[in-house]
Amino acid sequence: MVTCTAQASGRTATFEVPAEVTILDAALAAGWEIPYSCRKGTCETCRAGIVSGEVSPAPDADGSALLCRTYAHTDVTIAPLRLESAQPDERRMVEARVYRVRWPADDVAMIDLRFPAGTRVPFQAGQYLQMWMPDAAPRSFSMANPPRQSDGVQLHVRIVPGGLFGEKVKNETIKAGDTLEIELPFGDFRLRDAPERPAVMVAGGTGFAPIQSILEHALAKQKDREFVLYWGGRNQAGLYALDQVAKWQRRHPHFRFVGVISDDPPGEGQRAGLVHEAVLADYPDLSGVDVYACGAPGLIHAARRDFTAAGLPPDRFFADTFVTPADGAD
Ligand code: FES
Repeated sequence: MVTCTAQASGRTATFEVPAEVTILDAALAAGWEIPYSCRKGTCETCRAGIVSGEVSPAPDADGSALLCRTYAHTDVTIAPLRLESAQPDERRMVEARVYRVRWPADDVAMIDLRFPAGTRVPFQAGQYLQMWMPDAAPRSFSMANPPRQSDGVQLHVRIVPGGLFGEKVKNETIKAGDTLEIELPFGDFRLRDAPERPAVMVAGGTGFAPIQSILEHALAKQKDREFVLYWGGRNQAGLYALDQVAKWQRRHPHFRFVGVISDDPPGEGQRAGLVHEAVLADYPDLSGVDVYACGAPGLIHAARRDFTAAGLPPDRFFADTFVTPADGAD
């Protein structure tokens, strides 16, 4: 057993790292939250400086490493982007039943799962679950429902080539009445308590799912905070839950929405182009906001790069990267 010292956000944490356990998992088990998302070495969210000590694989040329893939062989000191104290999640495996499958767009399934009678699994708005399927790596999906509805979960699943779960839903191999084995919750994509700063939410496609969970949870509770949602899709079908957005607009004067269409002509009141560029057009200086972004790796990488160049402090960029098989997650 070796020891890891983590320094960031004005804090220092020390925790033990057992052999065969990654530095990220050891930190989480000890109640220290370091930014992470995919846990598969793909999204880059967990990248941190290795200040001292021996790790494997060896750090990259700039001295940094992906903590979800890194093991410590001696005492180490690391410099992650952010370090927060958090209760370790009480994760559970649950046999969930498919209650309903709806199709708000041809390539997006909205799936409601119900837990067994009397079963509730606490989670925080914005977190995700892992779905275990025979002979396949677990798939990750964000909960789209708010935590008060803890007797089940809603998933927004885009059907993509090679997306094993989505294809099974599309061809009805998985359908209402079936049971699925899921494990939850995971992830640090949750709203931070900073009522003095606007929360700018950026969603690409089904990256809307965890943001729906956060907004359903927070809009009614934080009436003095400004929330702005930028939601981007390739076409109108990509913005597949505008009725939900319209409901927030009617009920919450502190909520604002900008729809952005990248490929087709935009509709009335919408913008053309890339969703993160619409944010920059409205906020050339991002030093006074918090950003919560969820979507494909390309969106998250571009947003992190361009937003921090526009003054956003790096530790106020909270991201959840949706990694698909095409991104190399499997
Ligand atoms: Fe480590 Fe995604 S690369 S959490």
